[in-house]
Amino acid sequence: MMEPILEGAVEVHSYLGPGDERTLADDVLDGLTRPLKELPPKHLYDARGSQLFDAICELPEYYPTRTERLILETHADDIVARTGAVELVELGSGSATKTRVLLDAMAAAGTLGRYVPVDVSATTVHSVAELFCDEYRGLSVYGVVGDFERHLAHLPPPAGPRLVPFLGGTIGNFPPGSRRRFLRGLGKVLGSGGHLLLGTDLVKDPRVIEAAYNDSAGVTAQFNLNLLHVINRELGANFDVDAFEHVAFFDRQREWIEMRLLATEPQRVRLEALDLEVEFAAREELRTEISAKFTIERLRGDLAAAGLDLVELYTDPDELFAVSLARCA
Ligand code: SAH
Ligand code: TRP
Repeated sequence: MMEPILEGAVEVHSYLGPGDERTLADDVLDGLTRPLKELPPKHLYDARGSQLFDAICELPEYYPTRTERLILETHADDIVARTGAVELVELGSGSATKTRVLLDAMAAAGTLGRYVPVDVSATTVHSVAELFCDEYRGLSVYGVVGDFERHLAHLPPPAGPRLVPFLGGTIGNFPPGSRRRFLRGLGKVLGSGGHLLLGTDLVKDPRVIEAAYNDSAGVTAQFNLNLLHVINRELGANFDVDAFEHVAFFDRQREWIEMRLLATEPQRVRLEALDLEVEFAAREELRTEISAKFTIERLRGDLAAAGLDLVELYTDPDELFAVSLARCA
């Protein structure tokens, strides 16, 4: 079924409501009362977190963004020609700076119809929707403020051949099991004849990877610590943010970066909204994110297990990063 799209129109739909403070509350209750404390990364991206992430993308140590942009610039025309895409449904779109490369190629091919950014960060979805609608003549934008793990059923039906970019290596932030489950669920989003465009960071010298998550300007530390500010604000908690340190290291066995917050001294945290008190021992850590690094074999395995065929794999000359084009098997 095709949906006629209104040229040049912009609309934004939000599926995050009052109930979603609940997901933070549930995740915090779940994650802070277990022996190895852990929280899911989506709560890092409030307005300030999203700004800090944009700053990370500009850091000299953070090679993924510029490398992925280079790959897209080199191959965007090929991607657009192979997929015949008239719309982009972008998962975890953020400020979508690299997406312009794809939109420009679609415009040049005369197939630019609709852009559907999907992100938990309301501020970024709204600003990208406005900006792109102004910049791309005739483009219609259908913004979705929501959780890509829970709200993909609310996407509009395809307006024609669909390309679904999932960039930035965000797929690496899922633990391996849910990663495959998530990829399998994308079949419905792709629709018939649709393609996934998946950005993944590749396994390389651990020193290069670790530097990308331990930048000398300390922006990544600010970004990671922002999670505690979010919890203090949203759940009436009293984390002493200054008494935590950012830790990021490459787990060579699992081939992923692990991001943690380390309590430099013992502390007891009160969370008003949960009527809960949580203790941190000295040097106790809270895991905030993993960022998996891929080999081509792991990538193929994950795609195959999710019922997806690899159509083309694009990479940079140094094989730092990969962008895969895939479709339903
Ligand atoms: N695509 C951009 C941003 C990557 S950062 C780039 O390549 O630079 C990850 C983005 O995913 C952030 O904008 C964050 O808000 C969003 N995000 C993280 N978890 C999410 C979730 N569960 N649902 C929707 N968006 C999510
Ligand atoms: N998707 C990004 C990545 O894995 C997110 C990210 C970059 C990140 N730096 C971070 C998440 C620091 C938490 C902390 O590369």
